[in-house]
Amino acid sequence: MTSLLLTGISSLVTNDPAHGGLLGELHDAALVIDGGKIAWVGQRRNAPATDAATDLGGRAVIPGFVDSHSHLVFAGDRAEEFAARMTGTPYSAGGIRTTVAATRAASDEHLTANVSRLVAEMRRQGTTTVEIKSGYGLTVTDEARALQIASQFTDETTYLGAHVVPAEYADDPAGYVDLVTGPMLDAAAKHSKWIDVFVERGAFDADQGRAILQAGIARGLQPRVHANQLGEGPGVQLAVELGAASADHCTHLADADIDALASSGVVAGLLPAIEFSTRSPYPNARRLLDAGVTVALATDCNPGSGYSSSMPFCIALAVREMHMTPAEALWSATAGGATSLRRPDLGHLTPGAPADLAILDAPSYLHLAYRPAVPLITRTLVAGRDT
Ligand code: NIG
Ligand code: FE
Repeated sequence: MTSLLLTGISSLVTNDPAHGGLLGELHDAALVIDGGKIAWVGQRRNAPATDAATDLGGRAVIPGFVDSHSHLVFAGDRAEEFAARMTGTPYSAGGIRTTVAATRAASDEHLTANVSRLVAEMRRQGTTTVEIKSGYGLTVTDEARALQIASQFTDETTYLGAHVVPAEYADDPAGYVDLVTGPMLDAAAKHSKWIDVFVERGAFDADQGRAILQAGIARGLQPRVHANQLGEGPGVQLAVELGAASADHCTHLADADIDALASSGVVAGLLPAIEFSTRSPYPNARRLLDAGVTVALATDCNPGSGYSSSMPFCIALAVREMHMTPAEALWSATAGGATSLRRPDLGHLTPGAPADLAILDAPSYLHLAYRPAVPLITRTLVAGRDT
């Protein structure tokens, strides 16, 4: 592969502290891509000679977004449920069973095509890495196939057999936990990096969550948790107890939850498209950031609680509604997501890192929040290739 110089970059966000500030931003910059990796970054005037060069004419370049939380393997949608919420019906996780029925009935080809469509949608909006969960199958066969399909699109696959107790186990939740920790885990483990559980009233309690996550850990999966989404509860504390990579949602936090996150290194995943689509109060990211908690922003793209695939939308919401600065929001959508996925190789544009980046039709990353809902991403490169 030949080397490529991208020059004429008005603002280059490296996320490399060596360049100063939270974002390691360089102005009037250039970068060199070689063999799918970043080979050089610096001032334009110092750029080395290369085989080919492209002048970006004053555009901004940022690390590709790392979307650390999504549920893309499903069939159907729940647009009517969304419309009802907008006229006052509260969100209930009960709608998950509607999607479970549609997903079980769908063919492998249909589910694969739907994931492919959504991943393409994400790429057009600057996402270069996405985590994908199962959780709409909830049988041994359907969870294994969801993860097999997800693994065609990402290495960041998450087994979420413990999304809700499916209807056929309504009278035997303990039996369902036995299935999730037994035969379903056996079938899911080879396709999964992560294990997740929805710890919430109406889903799984702390003891069930602990048993499920520990079973996964014993099989080499790493834990992450859906925590404190619909009300205060034990999710964050369980994530901390088990050394989970992330506690995601974190919408309803007690002071003790923030203290526990701050002293543990568990990443708080904030998912503001969900608050938007469920008409819920947004979490206050400032409380977390001021306490020293690492924050990741992610879409949680799913057909129920929030069907947006857009990281720029999440950034705009985080800045407008969650008291994050534009720089903090961009960091959390890139390096924060990489931290949440325990991928130190991702989320920054430094020599040796994969050339995963987005080019904006704007002079600065500030425009991501300043110009909400405008399609500013003109190119998304993964390992140096246009997608
Ligand atoms: O992250 N909280 C649980 N799961 C999803 C919602 C799934 C659905 O409503 O279909 C979430 O919000
Ligand atoms: Fe989720």
